[in-house]
Amino acid sequence: MHVLLLGGTWFLGRAVARHALANDCEVTTFNRGQSTPYLPGTLAVHGDRASADDFERLARYGPWDVVIDTSASDTAPRHVLAGARALAEVTDRYVYVSSVSVYRNWGAGPLTESSATYDTPADAGPEYYEGLDPAEQDGMRKAGCERAVTEAFGADRTTILRPGSILGPGEYIGRLPWWLRRCARGGEILAPREPDRPVQPIDARDVAAFAVSAPAGVFNVTAPRGHATMRDLLTACLDATGYQGRLVWTSEEVLARHGVRGRTELPLWPGTDGVVDVSAALAAGLTCRPLDRTVADTWAWLRDGADSVAGQQSGWERHGIAPDKEAAILAEVGLSG
Ligand SMILES: NC(=O)c1ccc[n+]([C@@H]2O[C@H](COP(=O)([O-])OP(=O)(O)OC[C@H]3O[C@@H](n4cnc5c(N)ncnc54)[C@H](OP(=O)(O)O)[C@@H]3O)[C@@H](O)[C@H]2O)c1
Repeated sequence: MHVLLLGGTWFLGRAVARHALANDCEVTTFNRGQSTPYLPGTLAVHGDRASADDFERLARYGPWDVVIDTSASDTAPRHVLAGARALAEVTDRYVYVSSVSVYRNWGAGPLTESSATYDTPADAGPEYYEGLDPAEQDGMRKAGCERAVTEAFGADRTTILRPGSILGPGEYIGRLPWWLRRCARGGEILAPREPDRPVQPIDARDVAAFAVSAPAGVFNVTAPRGHATMRDLLTACLDATGYQGRLVWTSEEVLARHGVRGRTELPLWPGTDGVVDVSAALAAGLTCRPLDRTVADTWAWLRDGADSVAGQQSGWERHGIAPDKEAAILAEVGLSG
């Protein structure tokens, strides 16, 4: 199979490239060549996805059986639309990696693929969502990109994947790396809210395998509901790092009083809380490895010094609570408990 990967050099894209190469695919990658070195065994074409000329040049390297798009995290729908149109004649199918952020309403009930999404037009530019909260911007942008790809390729040639948190070796965002390094430091560890709160992070390698094989359609791509809890996640971190510390489960009320920011100071909290329904993807062949495998492999990657993937464009410094702030909260919890 001939695969074109938009992106392909960083985290999820690199995992897709590795999986495709291991399954005897011929892989072309398209990126600016700025972030990380290309993966040996792939054909690297350099260009900017915001440039129509670069996409026209790229199209001359075709044809491909499938284009897998992992590089549109900041790209406006109108650029995705132009790029998809340039590839529609030389590629059979388009797999677009979107996000669960496209859903408008995060209530208690299950989110299925037919739950309401943002109605961003396929040709929207950044001015459409400028000034909004970053999470909302992301959801609006991705919803418009989904429409753009579907408009250019038609629904029967389009696969939309909607992942939640993606973890695993190579994670440049720094969420699981922070928890692992915090657990390795030991002592009393501030842990958020209820231990039994469900979490649904998925391993990048499992998303990658599904991206290469998924049929046409729209799929939520997280770990299944009931897969793991916050306790499972943090216990796996303690386990991987040799049980150096003790988790202190701390109420949301205390965390809020200290202004602890979710998602950054305590990464992966709050998560998707087990509301994302993935039955469609499971029926279509998605498999999810156990969370403790993802955690152990990520720790092994960190202990190996990680690789340049995380080093070059790291969001790590934006994640994790400062040690003195954590200590102050733990002191209060200790006094009241
Ligand atoms: N990580 C998560 O938890 C998560 C959750 C839900 C959805 N997602 C989505 O999953 C996708 C994969 O993310 P990833 O960061 O792992 O992707 P990736 O494909 O591993 O890395 C991004 C790639 O895009 C290239 N790129 C960036 N800007 C470009 C441009 N203007 N023109 C051409 N190439 C460009 C980068 O290379 P150069 O910089 O060298 O150009 C790099 O190869 C994203 O769309 C993200 O929104 C991620």
